[in-house]
Amino acid sequence: MTVEGLPMAVPAAGLPARVRIHEVGARDGLQNESATVPTEIKAEFVRRLADAGLTTIEATSFVHPKWVPQLADAEQLFPLVAGLEGVRLPVLVPNDRGLDRALALGARRIAVFASATESFAKANLNRTLDESLAVFEPVVARAKDEGRHVRGYVSMCFGDPWEGAVPLRQVVRVCKALRDMGCDELSLGDTIGVATPGHVLELLSLLNAEGVPTNVVGVHFHDTYGQALANTYAALQHGVTTIDASAGGLGGCPYAKSATGNLATEDLVWMLQGLGIDTGVDLNRLVATSAWMAEQLGRPSPSRTVRALSHKEQ
Ligand code: HMG
Ligand code: MG
Repeated sequence: MTVEGLPMAVPAAGLPARVRIHEVGARDGLQNESATVPTEIKAEFVRRLADAGLTTIEATSFVHPKWVPQLADAEQLFPLVAGLEGVRLPVLVPNDRGLDRALALGARRIAVFASATESFAKANLNRTLDESLAVFEPVVARAKDEGRHVRGYVSMCFGDPWEGAVPLRQVVRVCKALRDMGCDELSLGDTIGVATPGHVLELLSLLNAEGVPTNVVGVHFHDTYGQALANTYAALQHGVTTIDASAGGLGGCPYAKSATGNLATEDLVWMLQGLGIDTGVDLNRLVATSAWMAEQLGRPSPSRTVRALSHKEQ
């Protein structure tokens, strides 16, 4: 370790030179908090994340407020952060109604969220898998007509709490359906954190074989079993350059009880800096942001890097 509290950069062969971090703490993180965070604190969180150098910050969701009460203030929050210079602020929309709400506020990037399994489609969207794809089709078409960027999430890519193992062909089918609708990028969700690196490589290879190129694929790992960084490294080796992560390791999913926090952005940045991979993120500022957010939430961050670097300051 260097004196500044950053890892020494030692590149490894065959990895990308730059990675785009898709920060999901304000959405995936806060949607799962038992207490609802005040809107002004959420806005401050987003501003601090931007100050730390994150340029893609998923801000909130335009979902039904009864389904996710923690994000019921989307209309109030979005305008508070919409003017942040150089920052992309994707938002989740589950249907036409959600898209109307997002477009009314000028959101430039939207994300629909599908499931690789029937059980989670039902639990999360109150629809069968095919019904949910039928709901997304006109949403994606309209968003594209309006010139918006569209991300398509696929949850439960590596395992499902109700169904167990998820056949890769099923995941690929949903990925291809989202691409055929016009999604610009995909995010492969390991919603309950059960993936391991070989499984990740196998899915990425099968997607390529089925015509889905790696440059439209991001990865979204939850860290339930401590595998998120290992899985990320495998994805990097395969050429993935969009990695989802959540500041401080906040997160989960209210409709998948076994989901815990996402890969912590700080743990990711520590590894990427050590590999000499550019992210544009100031790790110490990010740690300070997550330490501040942990104070607001009244409990310590689960991120090992946040803990290590916060201790160092004391
Ligand atoms: P539903 O109850 O079937 O809704 O819920 P509906 O279509 O039957 O409509 C019922 C009422 O809700 C209607 O109002 C609609 O207008 C209203 P009424 O006519 O009765 O007065 N409504 C809405 N209101 C506001 N905003 C909307 C909206 N839609 C309908 N967008 C629905 C279906 C999809 C709405 C619901 O299931 C829902 O909101 N689900 C969201 C669940 C969610 O946000 N989960 C977490 C995000 S996914 C995730 O975390 C995984 C991820 O991180 C990746 C990974 O880790 O795998 C992305
Ligand atoms: Mg998630």
